[in-house]
Amino acid sequence: MRKLIDVEDNKRMRPAKGKTGESMKHESAAKQVAGTAVYVDDMPELPNTLHVAVGGSQYAHAFIKSMDLSAVEKAPGVVKVITVKDVPGHTDIGPVFPGDPVLVESECEYIGQPIFAIAAETHEQAKAAVGLAQIQYKELEPTLTVDKAMKDQFFVRPTHSHQRGDADKALSESEHVISADFYVKGQEHFYLEGQISTVVPTEDGGMDVFTSSQHPTEVQKLVAEVLDISINKVNVEVRRMGGGFGGKETQAAPLACIASLLAHHTKRPVKYRMSRGDDMIMTGKRHAFQNDYKVGFNEQGLIQGAVINVAGQCGNSPDLSDAIVDRAMFHSDNAYYLNNATITGYRCKTHTVSATAYRGFGGPQGVITAELMMDDIARHLGEDPLTIRKRNLYGVKHDSMRLEDGSIDPRNETHYGQTVEQEVLPELISQLEESSEYWKRREEIKQFNANSAFLKKGLALTPVKFGISFTVQFLNQAGALVHVYTDGSIQVNHGGTEMGQGLYVKVAQVVANEFQVDLDTIQVTATRTDKVSNTSPTAASSGSDLNGMAARDACLRIKAGMIKYAAELNGTSEDKIRFESNHVVAVKADGEEVWTPFAEFTQNAYTARVPLFSSGHYQTPKIHYDRNTGKGRPFYYFANGASVSEVIVDTLTGEYKVTRVDILQDVGASLNPAIDIGQIEGAYIQGMGWLTTEDLVWSDNGRLLSNGPATYKIPAVGDTPIDFRVKLMEQLPNKEETIYRSKAVGEPPFMLGISAWSALRDAVSSMAEYKFSPPMNAPATPECVLNAVNETRKHIANS
Ligand code: MTE
Ligand code: HPA
Ligand code: MOS
Repeated sequence: MRKLIDVEDNKRMRPAKGKTGESMKHESAAKQVAGTAVYVDDMPELPNTLHVAVGGSQYAHAFIKSMDLSAVEKAPGVVKVITVKDVPGHTDIGPVFPGDPVLVESECEYIGQPIFAIAAETHEQAKAAVGLAQIQYKELEPTLTVDKAMKDQFFVRPTHSHQRGDADKALSESEHVISADFYVKGQEHFYLEGQISTVVPTEDGGMDVFTSSQHPTEVQKLVAEVLDISINKVNVEVRRMGGGFGGKETQAAPLACIASLLAHHTKRPVKYRMSRGDDMIMTGKRHAFQNDYKVGFNEQGLIQGAVINVAGQCGNSPDLSDAIVDRAMFHSDNAYYLNNATITGYRCKTHTVSATAYRGFGGPQGVITAELMMDDIARHLGEDPLTIRKRNLYGVKHDSMRLEDGSIDPRNETHYGQTVEQEVLPELISQLEESSEYWKRREEIKQFNANSAFLKKGLALTPVKFGISFTVQFLNQAGALVHVYTDGSIQVNHGGTEMGQGLYVKVAQVVANEFQVDLDTIQVTATRTDKVSNTSPTAASSGSDLNGMAARDACLRIKAGMIKYAAELNGTSEDKIRFESNHVVAVKADGEEVWTPFAEFTQNAYTARVPLFSSGHYQTPKIHYDRNTGKGRPFYYFANGASVSEVIVDTLTGEYKVTRVDILQDVGASLNPAIDIGQIEGAYIQGMGWLTTEDLVWSDNGRLLSNGPATYKIPAVGDTPIDFRVKLMEQLPNKEETIYRSKAVGEPPFMLGISAWSALRDAVSSMAEYKFSPPMNAPATPECVLNAVNETRKHIANS
């Protein structure tokens, strides 16, 4: 066995390696490359394991008149078939509000909605039995579009507004008023690992659940509720996910619940792994939004007031839509001071699968509306869009803009009353403008376009200001558990889950930093509800902020005991003990330094009966928000960034390429620059995919047609920008006391992909000397771009 202190070299009398701030590789990187990282489907199957298939509704909206499952029950290999009548406990598994039946009782609300579930000896046998069900439906009229839902006022949750000042009055007094509407489609998560849960009944009537979920605690609670048992009988473990992207915040739970119900009835282990097709049809995606704005501004393009409506297509149930549409509303300003604003969010009900969390959580659909507005203002005034963007940034003061008392408007209060305290974007944009040579390239592109009949280039710089915190206050807490063993090795566990974002390595680096020991002495362990309980989902980009702090708190508690012991042992005071270079150092009264290797020290401390493990907890300070008044400080701080995208468009076919991307992102003092850059690259590409190639298509009766990789195109390696430059903003620690002054990175850069969409519109607009803003919904597929080209040609012909 390798000991940490057995040879001189291993005494590690040198600065610890792998602390926070260093670019350490992802904790699973080598295992993922070698194929030895274990996902739920890779776990050795227990003997007698049964496999699940689910029968779903064939209609978007219908009543079940009758159901005959006898042929299903008799099919080869089938061991158990259940309907809602076989659920001993709760039948509704809605995460926040009711509306999500675990199995439909009578009214079906989307195609694919689970009605019955089968456990069979093999997955193939379960799948084959599904088609044998005899179900008679009474068809009802479905609502399949936002337009229809808006017309019928058909909502999953009440409408809600934010208001600052008097937007109508400001619009009536503005020199210029323009308006537009815009539709942006949803997005399939397309995590590489599909949804899965394996459950094993325990001897105490409970369940051990192995799942791919961002929210183990919610899975634990819902499994307990459907089985009608107490929460303490259910254990949930998540070692890692092969991607989640928000799609496993609530959508993993139904699989765990259905598998648990079947395990409860059969007393056998049950595995429920969805095929890709089922996953795409049966689980929620990003919300499509139908948005519109009306904005008033002066001759310089400074916004005086705006009325913005955002209407999210929520699908059949509330799920997380209240908070998601709220976040779209919170981000409808993006980085710009709207001054007088009325922002209203609608939560439209449709008979499609319930839409859910997806990277940005509604924020992107708000941000893109603000960016659409910026481009339109610029073209209306004949200015460069970047000029208009910079003028309207929060915190940029203008002599002409004054408050009623005559003083200059600080222009730093959002429409929900939060002050933007750390103004990052003016400086960040000016650095990016320079490093990307925006103005030089703008001139070159104008020249190119003037001399090129059909190929047109486009350029756009768009910023992002993203609010960090769950907007539901109680979720902003975390717990951790740290164990120090007698060979000096350490285990850390916390409530956050690993989905590829690098949370585990970042938290391990926090622990390494606290004890000043090498990162390779720290073992991260699977997230488990029996190690840290009552956890929040790993979401809202808050994983490292919350769990990093909780782990640090646990370390500080352990260190306090160690320090007390070391001081007593060395006859010195506690302030003379420090952790340095893999050692514990005591400075005696006479100034002599006693260096004890960390491993040796822990052995001694144990022998002296010092506790070497602790839990830790953290709750985000300063945040509050009153949803009734729409005012408060929902976000602890903002993460900022900007990107410049350049594209080339073939105006004969609408085809295009993203040729160069420059990004500058504010991550505060980075916990791990390599991981952060990876997050930014991935987020940009995912955002670009949402707005360019990822085209969800439903049939007229509500059936998803783009239900596999052949019909739904996520960005591939060939879509990577040819020239891709990503940098972190330097020397800009978070103004707030986050974990070592870092900032969240998971979601914010997703919205940098908006610059690719804006650049496409810029390229088309060049055909009309940049004086016309072509309508261009998203995703801007080649067909959509070609349509924008045709609209632009029509505009030229008519003017
Ligand atoms: N990165 C990878 N590789 N895989 C993922 O599933 N999810 C994103 C982001 N980055 C995701 C990812 C989303 S939606 C969120 S909210 C954050 O990671 C969650 O992790 P964090 O809070 O630890 O950043
Ligand atoms: N972001 C992500 N997930 C969430 C949030 C949020 O703001 N609130 C509840 N779940
Ligand atoms: Mo991320 S959408 O908050 O899981």
